[in-house]
Order: sequence, then structure tokens, then C-alpha cells
Amino acid sequence: MIGMELRDKVTEYVKERILALRVSNPGQYQNVSVVRTNSMKYIPNYFEKAQLSKMFFLFPDPHFKEKNHRRRVISPFLLDEYAYVIKPGGIIYTITDVEELGEWMKSCLENHPMFESLTEEELEADPVVKLLSCATEEGQKVSRNGGQTFKAVFRRICRTVGTVCNLNGKRAKQNNSFLIH
Ligand SMILES: C[S@@+](CC[C@H](N)C(=O)[O-])C[C@H]1O[C@@H](n2cnc3c(N)ncnc32)[C@H](O)[C@@H]1O
Repeated sequence: MIGMELRDKVTEYVKERILALRVSNPGQYQNVSVVRTNSMKYIPNYFEKAQLSKMFFLFPDPHFKEKNHRRRVISPFLLDEYAYVIKPGGIIYTITDVEELGEWMKSCLENHPMFESLTEEELEADPVVKLLSCATEEGQKVSRNGGQTFKAVFRRICRTVGTVCNLNGKRAKQNNSFLIH
């Protein structure tokens, strides 16, 4: 698992947290790391096609003003990039305490041809979903203050020539006659 963070100090803090976890849990947390980078610019430089099985966008900056919506970490353009690096069947998890941003992320994902929403049963069965609201410092702060959270969890669908397949074999979103992925 790799964390991507823009700010130096935050990146250093996360590095120290990882090192401390390794010391107190010998042999564990060896596959966890963090890199200081602008994830909105450089995701394609870090990952190859279909490399990732999960992507997490936990309490991202809301960028309230309309002129700054293009700075949001979930956008139609960036979802094209995420659809490229995440493998078919892979999952994008998002959570925020800002209702309007939650609606925005959900709507971007709903309108993107390469993602479909998990069903209520799938959300219930995925142990990761329960951790989204409490796994990060921002999430814990929101929880302490009794804040509401808004999740959007979507699967990268798998398209083959002539059809769109769901890896769980449960449902096909629509028919299509071109090949992506
Ligand atoms: C509101 S904080 C949430 C941090 C963490 N996910 C949590 O839930 O505690 C948003 C973080 O995203 C970082 N960030 C904003 N834009 C970024 C970008 N383009 N690339 C990498 N990190 C970014 C900010 O520096 C900040 O640390």
C-alpha cells in the first residue's frame, strides 16, 4: 500500500508513523509506504495499467468554490486515469464529511462508463467499508465531533468486445461494442 501526499511535513509524519508501527510490530507493515508527490499530476508515472486493486480517497480537500472544483481529486478527467491504473474488479473508496463533495464524487463515478456502484449487500460484506470513517486522522476527528459522513464506493468494471462484464458475474451494466482495458 502506498500513500501519496503533497506536503513535505505531512509525508515525514506518515513515514515516522509507519516506522513506529514496524518497530512495535516486528515483521509487519513492510509493504506500506508513503511518497511525497502530487497525485493529481503524477499517478500515471507511478503505476502501470491495471496495477492497483484498491484506491482510497479519504476526506479529500473539498475545494468549495466552483472555480476550484477542477482541483478536486475526483473529477471526470482524473477518473479516466484511475480507470487505467486500477484493475477490472478493483475498487475506489471515497468518503467525506462535506455533503456537497460527497454528491460530487458520487455523481462523477456514476457518470463514468468504467465504474459501477457496489450494491448494498456488497458494501455490507466488504470489511474495508466499515473502516473508512475511522481509519484516518481526519475521519477520527469528524467522528469525535459527531459529524456526518458520505461514502461512494465503486468498482472498476471490465469491458470486453461486445459486452460489459462484472467480475462477480452478477450483472452487466450495458452492452458495448468496443474494447477498453
Ligand atoms: C483533509 S486532508 C485528509 C488527510 C487524510 N486522508 C485523512 O483522512 O486524515 C487532505 C490531504 O490531501 C493532501 N493533498 C491535497 N492535494 C493533494 C495532491 N494533489 N496530491 C497529494 N496529496 C494531496 C493534503 O496535503 C492533505 O494532507
